[in-house]
Amino acid sequence: MYQDRIRRPALMDKVMSAQQAALLFKDGMTVGMSGFTRAGDAKAMPLALVERARHEPLRLTLITGASLGNDSDGLMAEAGLLARRLPFQADAALRRKINAGEVMFIDQHLSETAEQLRSHSLAPIDIAVIEATAITEDGFLVPTMSVGNSANFAQQARQIIIEINLSAPLALEGLHDIFIPGERPGRAPIPLVSPEQRIGTTAIAIDPARIAAIVITDSPDSPSNVLPPDSETEAIASHVIAFLESEVSAGRMTPALLPLQAGIGTIANAVLHGLIGSPFSNMTMFSEVLQDSAIELLDSGQLIQASASSITLSPTMHEKFMRDIDSYRAKIVLRPQEISNHPEIVRRLGVIALNTALECDIYGNVNSTHVGGTHMMNGIGGSGDFARNGQLSLFVSKSVAKAGGISSVVPMVAHVDHTEHDVDVLVTEWGLADLRGLAPRERAPLIIERCAHPDYRTQLRAYFEQACLRGGQTPHVLEAALSWHVRYRDGQSMLS
Ligand code: COA
Repeated sequence: MYQDRIRRPALMDKVMSAQQAALLFKDGMTVGMSGFTRAGDAKAMPLALVERARHEPLRLTLITGASLGNDSDGLMAEAGLLARRLPFQADAALRRKINAGEVMFIDQHLSETAEQLRSHSLAPIDIAVIEATAITEDGFLVPTMSVGNSANFAQQARQIIIEINLSAPLALEGLHDIFIPGERPGRAPIPLVSPEQRIGTTAIAIDPARIAAIVITDSPDSPSNVLPPDSETEAIASHVIAFLESEVSAGRMTPALLPLQAGIGTIANAVLHGLIGSPFSNMTMFSEVLQDSAIELLDSGQLIQASASSITLSPTMHEKFMRDIDSYRAKIVLRPQEISNHPEIVRRLGVIALNTALECDIYGNVNSTHVGGTHMMNGIGGSGDFARNGQLSLFVSKSVAKAGGISSVVPMVAHVDHTEHDVDVLVTEWGLADLRGLAPRERAPLIIERCAHPDYRTQLRAYFEQACLRGGQTPHVLEAALSWHVRYRDGQSMLS
């Protein structure tokens, strides 16, 4: 029954099939779709568009919040539907198309897409496709499990297609806080001074006259695909917790810590999981995604409030969340990603940012995105929004990848996402390097001895010694700096 979800009766005659709605799209259009780390994505329209693209020329620029679920990104990429894609993805098939040069991928800080649309630095949105729980009496949209860029898309698009998802309980209404910053020049400060505060509306205000179609769906979000903690991620978590304890002992924060941000993926999830039973209490989160570990921390009572832009859970946790939605709604706020990741607020709150690196170098530069320096993994996501602006920026990684063939600590990263200026602390299963207040020549020995895998330490020490003979603020042997990556490419191991 969808009638009770479309509370503005005049919109009833906009209900149609996804196939009919797909006829609104024209080759070359720019489309904004809801969806953020597999949560709150449109379920029917991607498939209907794939069907069209299989039979006729249809190539689109697709902008989302972040990654989509239901294999939508992969199916759209394989059907040739995606000419350009931004600002983030995490799909194996789309990744292949990007790395083959067939899809132009613009890897963006997640807080910036909305600003670029608003300032007309990106092509305007022709059609917005937004998943919603309900349409209110005013014709406003109640989002589902993510907000992402949906409010910006819906307010800027010429036409809006709404997917009402019957599997999203009506009780989600009230979870969201929609606030859009004003125009420049003369923009007022964003009046958010604590993670739990609500500063906007519970639904996305739109002009109902621009609603071109309403499509009814009932499939749930794709479940989270993070792996359970293992001995290495547990060791990483224990180093992070010991470090935070020392920050409390040093009087730099209270046992409530500062608002926590934790990135996507298995390692960040494991670190948050490790906080359960730790000595910290009354913690808060100001993050972009809430994974299972955030819900577990809420259940433990140690986390009291969490702010994010999406919730991505395993099937069991999803079921529990929906069962107890009334209690979680009082503790969780979902915001547009330009607010959840906003530099102004991240700096004001003094967020502790915890993100995952693919590799770091001996001076503390971090590569989160490019395998071997050239091939896109997922994208920078929100890691840069938080790393540059938080009070503390931690990057975690296992010390080796691919059965030891790759060292995550290298002489020089082959691509830089986070410069040494944005990285305070590096952590692997071997230990933690606190880089604050250290010059590059002081950082290198610490990173090598604390974080590198023992199998690679001798090689790293030798590189650093050679580099120092050449001099410089940040010494390098330039002709050898990327030789480790070349050695892996040619022989499947960085060991010399
Ligand atoms: N070179 C090549 N591959 C590497 C590598 C390196 N230095 N380090 C890790 N990998 C590979 C792993 O082997 C693994 O490959 P597999 O999927 O084939 O097994 C893959 O990268 C993922 O690594 P894993 O150790 O499982 O970590 P993860 O699931 O936590 O993901 C990132 C790590 C970096 C890919 C992920 O966190 C990411 O995309 N980060 C960027 C976006 C971001 O930080 N967002 C934060 C705000 S939400």
